[in-house]
Amino acid sequence: MSHTFSLSRVARLVGVPRSTLQRMVKEGRLTAQNGEVEMEELLRVFPDVKWEDDGEYARVEEIKKKAFAKRIFERALPDKEVLADRLFDLTHEYATAKGLLAHYEQLFEWVMHKLDDVAEAGGAPAAQAVADCKLWLRQQLAAAPREAERARGLLAEERAMRIVSVQVKVLPSGHEFFVEGSDTILEAALRAGIPLNYGCSNGNCGECRARLVAGEVKKVHPHDYVLKEADKAQGAFLMCSYTAVSDIVIEAAVAGAQDIPHQVIATRVKAVELLDERLAALHLTTPRSQRLRFLAGQRVRLKADGVEGEYYLASCPCEDRHLELHVRRDNRPFARRVFDGLRKEDPVTVEGPEGSLVINLDSRRPVIFVAWDDGFAPIKSLVQHAMSLELAEHMHLYWVAADLGHYQDNLCRSWADALDNFTYVPLWVDGGAPEVAARILDDHPDLSHTDLYAAGPAQFLQHLRDGAMARGLSPRGWHAEVLA
Ligand code: FES
Repeated sequence: MSHTFSLSRVARLVGVPRSTLQRMVKEGRLTAQNGEVEMEELLRVFPDVKWEDDGEYARVEEIKKKAFAKRIFERALPDKEVLADRLFDLTHEYATAKGLLAHYEQLFEWVMHKLDDVAEAGGAPAAQAVADCKLWLRQQLAAAPREAERARGLLAEERAMRIVSVQVKVLPSGHEFFVEGSDTILEAALRAGIPLNYGCSNGNCGECRARLVAGEVKKVHPHDYVLKEADKAQGAFLMCSYTAVSDIVIEAAVAGAQDIPHQVIATRVKAVELLDERLAALHLTTPRSQRLRFLAGQRVRLKADGVEGEYYLASCPCEDRHLELHVRRDNRPFARRVFDGLRKEDPVTVEGPEGSLVINLDSRRPVIFVAWDDGFAPIKSLVQHAMSLELAEHMHLYWVAADLGHYQDNLCRSWADALDNFTYVPLWVDGGAPEVAARILDDHPDLSHTDLYAAGPAQFLQHLRDGAMARGLSPRGWHAEVLA
């Protein structure tokens, strides 16, 4: 039986983003059945890949690392018991393959003897035919074909990968992610930007309960929450306490905006970064034991020294304990506090999140992001989340500068340079809101299979929405946040 690889695994093996592979499948350049690619197909479509070369995948990872500047990328080995289990599985697989090989060798020798019997019974013409046949068989066995060598390299790379990272497929949503290092399944999902449902994250509430459908998991943290024996027998486990030993399939709930509880978290200032004289990026760190649950595109209320203000999160939910917010220099009390000397380690209370401008996790359609001035904050969060999920076939980013400039222009350009499915167009308000909306829509005559996310003033959004609907955008594809 042929060996198959999931699209996520292929992306890592050949070093291209998963979204590129999905596009190739759609265009008929790569054949996949139920998201699985056969080894022969992989070798056919990528004849020149060197399996030890990370190629574009490494390039994309690097740009993500830069984009998520404060994110800590852990590449640690798994817990030693998990590592032992994975090595045991590998040893078992190796022993099985060796056993099969021995069996085939015996079979081969048996065929050779049988051929000798045929030669003996058939006289001179049969003896010559059998001799030719045996010679050909031995020559074929002696000369390892190039394909076999390439297949061997591919399998070796894949097996080595499975030691340090295993794949999780989530049902019914179909999301896939990898568990690396010593992460629990919940930690790995959140790093990948997949908002699986959870509560306390330390084994007390039971809200991260999932069901194991296939594969093997292992408890790596104790939990006080008691699972019923009947549920355990059905495969129930807590994602915050377990890691994956092998590739697994689980049933787990993905949280929407309505599932995220209101939280109050005492954070500390990590840095106040002046992006220009009118805008600062406020970087906050949550406590080790308490990360903020939010979805990209949402906003929070910030409080410091008795003043408060509401701001959009510009960071990706996948960035562990790091939060970034863009604060415009104006007369609002919290803005004055930021620009008048908020310092590293100062306490800031974060309350929230609020807002429903969030990614449609079920959509695989091309996406257009439109930001107006510092409406770039929620859009930046959404772009990074979309990049992390690798869902969209293509992403277009339009950033309209009105009062403020394109204050993180280099970052947007680096995304466009790194990803072949990402385009970035910076725009200025020259004529007015209707003209800018028209300029954006001119690039997209048919929006019937597109999602559009926009953050800006009401009048601009109204022009954009009307024009987009006239080009076939469905009401379900329109996601917008009106900025004051
Ligand atoms: S999140 Fe509470 S038990 Fe896992």
